[in-house]
Amino acid sequence: MLSRHHWTGVIVLLTFATFASCAQVEDPCKTKSRVVADDKYCDKYWECDNGQSIQYDCPNGLVFAGKHRGVTEGCDYPWRSNYCEYPKVQTNPPIGTEHCDWLYGIFGHETSCTRYWTCWNGTATEQLCIGGLLYNENAHSCDWPENVDGCQKHPLCNEDPNGNVPLGKSCNRYWQCQGGYPRLQRCPAMLVFDRRSLRCVVPPTEDCDVPTTTPPPPEEENQDSRPNTHKSQRPTHGEYQDRQRQATRN
Ligand SMILES: *[C@@H]1O[C@H](CO)[C@@H](O)[C@H](O)[C@H]1NC(C)=O
Repeated sequence: MLSRHHWTGVIVLLTFATFASCAQVEDPCKTKSRVVADDKYCDKYWECDNGQSIQYDCPNGLVFAGKHRGVTEGCDYPWRSNYCEYPKVQTNPPIGTEHCDWLYGIFGHETSCTRYWTCWNGTATEQLCIGGLLYNENAHSCDWPENVDGCQKHPLCNEDPNGNVPLGKSCNRYWQCQGGYPRLQRCPAMLVFDRRSLRCVVPPTEDCDVPTTTPPPPEEENQDSRPNTHKSQRPTHGEYQDRQRQATRN
């Protein structure tokens, strides 16, 4: 009996994937953007350069955000998104300059709650929160005073935490301290800020002549001529917002 063995050829394909020995997950040369994040360090990334994967650092203080994203070179402030979440860490140490903890970033002011620094390549630019807002270190932006915990109150208000303080040479605007926090205020039309009595008065004063504006409604004038303006109660929320609007218009 003739039996015939039929050999079925089984081809086993063993694929040996070759992985680069470095830390990255993907080869940037095999991606469309040709840039990939490092998988351990959020301030490093890999870019395909002439067919080779090269590791780069983000500018000091920034973390990788993705090609064409972030504030510069595909990198962004670490707090802006989930760019740098555990277990990923920033590995490059901070390079500080005057006012800047890192070469790039937004940082609190040393002596003021209403000011802060923006740093770009180590050059600091002073910024000002307007309308009675304070710099919030957690949000890295200006915020309502009630959201800014542990912020030192402004030295402007050291003498009297609820007093008025002249604003430069202005005849019209002044700082009103409320619990140590200064808010920008404006005297009603026809009144000027008197640097001696620290309130809005009928001009002229030593420094200010009669302003050339239209008269306000009489109630408003009466209200602000009260001798005790600087001891006024904290405004209600609506009133507060009105004042902020007034202040930011200046
Ligand atoms: C940053 O500043 C340094 C000198 O302080 C300069 O050499 C460098 O070119 C600057 N980099 C950028 C991106 O502007």
